[in-house]
Amino acid sequence: MELNLIDLFIIGLSLVFLRLWWRYWSATGGGRKNLPPGPPGWPLVGNLVQIILQRRHFVFIIRELRKLYGPIFTLQMGQRTMVIVTDPRLIHEALVQRGPTFASRPPDSPIRLVFSVGKCAINSAEYGPLWRTLRKNFVTELITPTRVKQCSWIRKWAVENHMKRIKTESFEKGFVEVMNNCRLTICSILICLCFGAKISEERIKKIESILKDVMLITSPQLPDFLPILTPLFHRQMKEAKALRKRQLECLVPLISSRRAFVEKGENPNQEMVSPIGAAYIDSLFGLEPATRGPLGEEEFVTLCSEIISAGTDTSATTVEWALLHLVMNQEIQGKLYQEIVDCVGKDGDIKEEDVEKMPYLDAIVKETFRRHPPGHFLLSHAATKDAELGGYTIPAGVHVEFYTAWVTENPDIWSNPSEFKPERFLHGDGVGVDITGTRGVKMVPFGAGRRICPAWTLGVLHINLLVAKMVQAFKWLPVPDSPPDLDETYAFTVVMKNPLKAVIVPRKGIEV
Ligand code: HEM
Repeated sequence: MELNLIDLFIIGLSLVFLRLWWRYWSATGGGRKNLPPGPPGWPLVGNLVQIILQRRHFVFIIRELRKLYGPIFTLQMGQRTMVIVTDPRLIHEALVQRGPTFASRPPDSPIRLVFSVGKCAINSAEYGPLWRTLRKNFVTELITPTRVKQCSWIRKWAVENHMKRIKTESFEKGFVEVMNNCRLTICSILICLCFGAKISEERIKKIESILKDVMLITSPQLPDFLPILTPLFHRQMKEAKALRKRQLECLVPLISSRRAFVEKGENPNQEMVSPIGAAYIDSLFGLEPATRGPLGEEEFVTLCSEIISAGTDTSATTVEWALLHLVMNQEIQGKLYQEIVDCVGKDGDIKEEDVEKMPYLDAIVKETFRRHPPGHFLLSHAATKDAELGGYTIPAGVHVEFYTAWVTENPDIWSNPSEFKPERFLHGDGVGVDITGTRGVKMVPFGAGRRICPAWTLGVLHINLLVAKMVQAFKWLPVPDSPPDLDETYAFTVVMKNPLKAVIVPRKGIEV
């Protein structure tokens, strides 16, 4: 087929029109809308290909775009419109002052819907009656002070196992791998809180590994941005369904054993250890959210999995980063050890109420959250209706991403932000900081407002207990040929590129 001059002219004109239309579309979202500014995109794919071609983590790109486009900007990722908010005042306005408006979640991708059983999870439910029922039930069943107290034996049991395990590992290898151990311990606590069961380490590891795979497979992929490509990703959907099957096969037997225990008192292998009514799953058996009716096995698996996934890596990463700084800075570690000895003695049992009386420990953990927030973004938010933020229009349903890590990296807010200095929380720029963001946003590792992490106090308790117990029993030192390395990499949370290894020396016999 030959093209004549007129054909070429028409094609050229169409391309110019397409380009102009796209410029208009990517700047306005396709209508009269007044979206925040953003880099001009390509026809149909928007900024997606530009971002992929950079072959760098999204966070680095966002940092540069923030400098170019200011505190709030738009990225058109294929068909997905993403509004990125980086300014503390705008974050506070959206999440706290106008909380209900920005408290929803955007639509889930088809793969995510498989695992959330149609958004029946606290983290993914839209702002509405289902979310309210699930979140209220979760807080009542797991987070209220009475329930936390009632379940403190679970943490005691898991932390004792943890201490034995790291002692054995140190004996066998000459060092301890911090992250793996903390992850296993926290995961075992959350499994016991959910199912009321003590299960073998092997089974815990299996659950952990399946949930890791779920996180990987549900992280954004090309068809999430260009749904038109979904048929080409048929294999991924097949894999997702197979993984969901494995997740069900792994957790449903635990749920069935618990039901038999709750309904008939059966406990053949004595794995059910929490009294009836004390496990999270017990409350789900009778829950009937207004919009959904009674929940079934699929929903139970989703709701328990989200607790284990949300609470394990976030807390374990924080313990690992805190220990890295204690290993690198023996003076800070010495001060913490002294505080622990002053509070409970060298051999005293550290109880949950004791860690609340340790201001230096509190400062170390807060500084760890500031310097190494487990997530650089919150979960995606969405406006419930077209809304205004920073003078721009945010259409309902678009992805609103809060880049909260910038707040703690910002030298206008924190002095020497890259320095690890717990003292700033005792007498410096961290004094009086509200980590829930209610009174203002200076650090928000758990988010703020309606969607704030409902378990942040529990997460902090797990971290405080593990750090205090490990420092009371051992002096933590660098491994000579594998010193701590501050390099980060981005997994589900922001983790160490080279996981921390440390030599541990029992304190007994060491003079402080
Ligand atoms: C250090 C520990 C933790 C950190 C840093 C953390 C952080 C967060 C963040 C940033 C969010 C999203 C907030 C938003 O979208 O605005 C969140 C949500 C959530 N977290 Fe946590 N979390 C931690 C521990 C836990 C634990 C231990 C659990 C469960 C036992 C948990 C359960 C949840 C749930 C269910 C949500 C969804 C809330 C909703 O959408 O309403 N988290 N968390």
